[in-house]
Amino acid sequence: MLLKEMLKINVENCANFVSFNDIQSFSPAVLHANEILENKTGLGKDYLGWLHLPSSIPEDLIDQIQFAAEKMAEKSEVVVVVGIGGSYLGARAVIDALSDNFHYLKPKENRVTPIVVYAGNNLGEDYHYDLLKALDKYDYSIIVISKSGTTTEPAIGFRLLKNHIEAKYSVPDARSRIIAITDKSKGALRKVAGNERYKTFVIPDDVGGRYSVLTPVGLMPIAAAGINIRQFINGAVEMEKFLSAQTDLFANPANLYAATRNALYRKGGVIEILATYTPSLNYLIEWWKQLYGESEGKEHKGIFPAGVTFTTDLHSMGQLVQEGARNIFETVIKVETSNSTLLIPESSDNADDLNYLAGKKMSYVNEKALEGTLMAHVDGGVPNIVITIPELNARYLGQMVYFFEKACAVSGYLLGVNPFNQPGVEAYKKNMFRLLGKK
Ligand code: PA5
Repeated sequence: MLLKEMLKINVENCANFVSFNDIQSFSPAVLHANEILENKTGLGKDYLGWLHLPSSIPEDLIDQIQFAAEKMAEKSEVVVVVGIGGSYLGARAVIDALSDNFHYLKPKENRVTPIVVYAGNNLGEDYHYDLLKALDKYDYSIIVISKSGTTTEPAIGFRLLKNHIEAKYSVPDARSRIIAITDKSKGALRKVAGNERYKTFVIPDDVGGRYSVLTPVGLMPIAAAGINIRQFINGAVEMEKFLSAQTDLFANPANLYAATRNALYRKGGVIEILATYTPSLNYLIEWWKQLYGESEGKEHKGIFPAGVTFTTDLHSMGQLVQEGARNIFETVIKVETSNSTLLIPESSDNADDLNYLAGKKMSYVNEKALEGTLMAHVDGGVPNIVITIPELNARYLGQMVYFFEKACAVSGYLLGVNPFNQPGVEAYKKNMFRLLGKK
């Protein structure tokens, strides 16, 4: 496998803040973390189904998902994905990253894949009212996802949509437009799906929500959006095998990322900002925030995961990053090549003084913005980690997803927490249910 075809990590811009030895000192703990992942002897050992998931996805499951997605796309201008947290963020991250940014503005007859929209990821009344109104005018289908099958937000969202789709079509037609992804036997969604005879896919018991993008939770919506899930899975398999084979800390991107961010944390880096210069990666940041926040933020420990889209946010967060409290470090996702070409045009009067850039690709300016910002932030006291992928496609997205998952598990163990539970998420629910008068 050519190294240049893999996601890369560079921690050189952390050298003024943590030494080679600081990072290297994590080697034994990193080795141990990898061992207890492989041996299934660490905290959260019942939730390691994601570890070798990419290389063990059955071919016939991929075929079934692709077939269901094609059937859905044939009769749907819109696909509504109902789910919250780990049950939608991974799919949205990949779909947004790989779709035409303005897909929804194309005339209907020019759209070859459905528009994917999201519901049940909030309790916004106006949000869901507007969605239902909009769906009056479109042919649509629903993918409803809940591992527990009892989460309030998607359950309410699905109730509303179920009523709408049954009223819009007949009940049997509505049934053929709904796919449920849930536990194999338990939970309210499994019960509804059984009663209504919906097509279903199973979320494996040993894969938690935020690690589930390579199960039907992520694969079904991604396929419905017309994205090649085989390439996505292949990318994840490449990364799975690459990381398993690399035992040297500095040659293993996931171990190096985990060790470096823990070294920075020990030196006071309590906030990590994930930065992208590619707006379509906004939801990858949202997915990453959940993955790291929910995995590490416990026992009064954890790095606060924040996100920015540059250069947009250089005009809002730039000041704080440059000169605010020095408790942050930055991880930049760099996409080496853009998929399209847009040259900056020559202007006859050069009133904006931009002719020195005429004929240059817009991505060239973006790249210089990245380099200039990185230098300024490092000079200003913000260590930078750079994660590079050659271009935005399904394969590199697959590599990146698995890279972040593996690094998160290792990082959580280095921190001394269970990266696979989320006990704190229950606190708001208890209060909400009491206030709502739930028996
Ligand atoms: O990562 C997690 O476990 C959570 O974010 C869940 O995915 C989220 O709470 C949704 O849960 P469920 O799929 O059970 O509806």
